[in-house]
Amino acid sequence: MGKCFIDGFLLFIVMVLGCCKGSFSQKDGTNTYESAVGDPGMRRDGLRVAIESWNQCNEVGEETPNFGSPRAADCFELIEDAGKKDCYSIQHKVTEQDNVLGVGNPIPGGKSKFFNNVDLYAAEKEVYLGTKCKVEDKPNPWHFWMIMLKNGNLDTYAAICPKDGVKVGPYGPDTRFDCFGKGCMSHPTMYHNYTTLVGTTLRGRFFGTWDVDIDSSKIGSIDQAKNISFYSVTWEKEIGKGSWVFRHVLKTSTRYPWLMLYLRSDAIQGFSGGYHYDTRGMIKTKYLESPNFKVRFTLNVTKGGGSETQFYLMDMGSCWKNNGQPCDGDVTSDVTRYSEMIINPETESWCKPDRLELCPPYHTFPNGTRVHRNDTKNYPYDAYHMYCSPGNGKHLEEPNSKCDPFSNPQPQEILQILPNPVWGEYGYPTKKGEGWIGNPKSWLLDVGRMSQNLYFYQDPGTQPIKRRWTSIDLGVEVYRDPDQVAEWTVSDFDILVPSGSSSNLND
Ligand SMILES: *[C@@H]1O[C@H](CO)[C@@H](O)[C@H](O)[C@H]1NC(C)=O
Ligand SMILES: *[C@@H]1O[C@H](CO)[C@@H](O)[C@H](O)[C@H]1NC(C)=O
Ligand SMILES: *[C@@H]1O[C@H](CO)[C@@H](O)[C@H](O)[C@H]1NC(C)=O
Ligand SMILES: *[C@@H]1O[C@H](CO)[C@@H](O)[C@H](O)[C@H]1NC(C)=O
Ligand SMILES: *[C@@H]1O[C@H](CO)[C@@H](O)[C@H](O)[C@H]1NC(C)=O
Repeated sequence: MGKCFIDGFLLFIVMVLGCCKGSFSQKDGTNTYESAVGDPGMRRDGLRVAIESWNQCNEVGEETPNFGSPRAADCFELIEDAGKKDCYSIQHKVTEQDNVLGVGNPIPGGKSKFFNNVDLYAAEKEVYLGTKCKVEDKPNPWHFWMIMLKNGNLDTYAAICPKDGVKVGPYGPDTRFDCFGKGCMSHPTMYHNYTTLVGTTLRGRFFGTWDVDIDSSKIGSIDQAKNISFYSVTWEKEIGKGSWVFRHVLKTSTRYPWLMLYLRSDAIQGFSGGYHYDTRGMIKTKYLESPNFKVRFTLNVTKGGGSETQFYLMDMGSCWKNNGQPCDGDVTSDVTRYSEMIINPETESWCKPDRLELCPPYHTFPNGTRVHRNDTKNYPYDAYHMYCSPGNGKHLEEPNSKCDPFSNPQPQEILQILPNPVWGEYGYPTKKGEGWIGNPKSWLLDVGRMSQNLYFYQDPGTQPIKRRWTSIDLGVEVYRDPDQVAEWTVSDFDILVPSGSSSNLND
């Protein structure tokens, strides 16, 4: 079905598209940059967006009846109708049958040996959705932005998640995790409003609840989600104008107090942070390499999600082994590496002179000067929320605190930072409250240079690995706090790399 507009409006579209052609570059000091994402600044009318849901250890475990494997997508082209130059229609690439594909059903082009395993099936489905959404581009084709949901509940008696990548038997209770009983690790319902055109506005949405045992079909907004968990992501854009605006809402409940919702930009292939299967995504170069990339976006937080919320202004994920080798899918030696800037002003520093195990062993200033964490005069304790070491580190400095061994398919290392003057040099917030509720802001973060200077563990004497990042995202983790609501919008997202540095996958 086509939608028609007056000629004047169409002229405007052509002008806007004309000036945005090709990858844009900008002068920034002495360097020229180009975009590393398929849709620089979220300006392309023909959107590519997908959604995924993970359990505590980033797997599926069990599908939610009627919603298939927890991967779905909304990808379309806006087509000018033939012969009627002021008329448009939306050509969707992903059908409802694609989106409800679930374990046991053949995936076109997929490997049949994965069709009967819920975890492997989701990975195959993501690759399949990628082929449907793929946009040809240079240096490589790309797929979609990824909305990621995660449920932090863990049923320790069900022995579903490995510990530091090693299978363990049923045990419990474990006060670190919540579980109300059978079903606590569920994936949410994924209701979908395919993108439609209303007037000159394109709009679409995914929403649902983790409380899958109630009749959730009528729960479409936060006001209707009384005492139950809820999420909603709406995307909206005026044809030919500005950026897509992604509006996110997340609510926790008594039964689901630990929930996460992020908007990710993942590499178009390989293991993205925290996930040990081949993924599809938006970063169309092979990877982002420290120190040479910057991230730009606009963030408008309107509801904070309570004092326990970790709102990540920037979350980056990668994977490398402790000996400096790249990850290869062996979950006992691969290590997920995360770094996150938390902007909730209520989040305090746990790293302190008398809690050194929660501080990275040293801090590196932009000029290269390193300060050890026992140097109480010069170490910026307030710049760190907490640091935890990989559970399989053989030569960790004492004292140390190991990361949660369950919340990843493999061991992990996490470095969480807080607004502080030491990050100002990289464009990050320097004061609590910056970028928070009432302070919507456009950011240009030198994530590459900062991530080069952060501490990450490697075995002594091994060649320092080139830090390559495969997932850049932002969003919220409400940590074990029922009945909290977070709400925010993201727009203008872009990743910039030095001109000419984008590499072809075959190089
Ligand atoms: C969105 O999807 C829900 C669930 O399928 C449906 O009830 C609702 O009518 C849809 N809304 C619009 C605006 O199409
Ligand atoms: C909310 O849900 C919890 C857990 O199911 C229950 O104990 C509580 O009574 C409910 N509260 C209301 C107001 O329904
Ligand atoms: C931020 O969001 C609020 C609530 O939707 C809106 O009123 C405000 O105009 C937004 N601010 C910006 C700068 O987009
Ligand atoms: C490097 O920066 C730190 C922090 O600003 C400062 O204390 C130190 O003196 C600087 N070192 C050099 C060699 O400039
Ligand atoms: C601080 O730690 C470093 C590295 O482990 C060590 O060499 C030094 O002796 C320590 N200093 C103090 C005062 O503990």
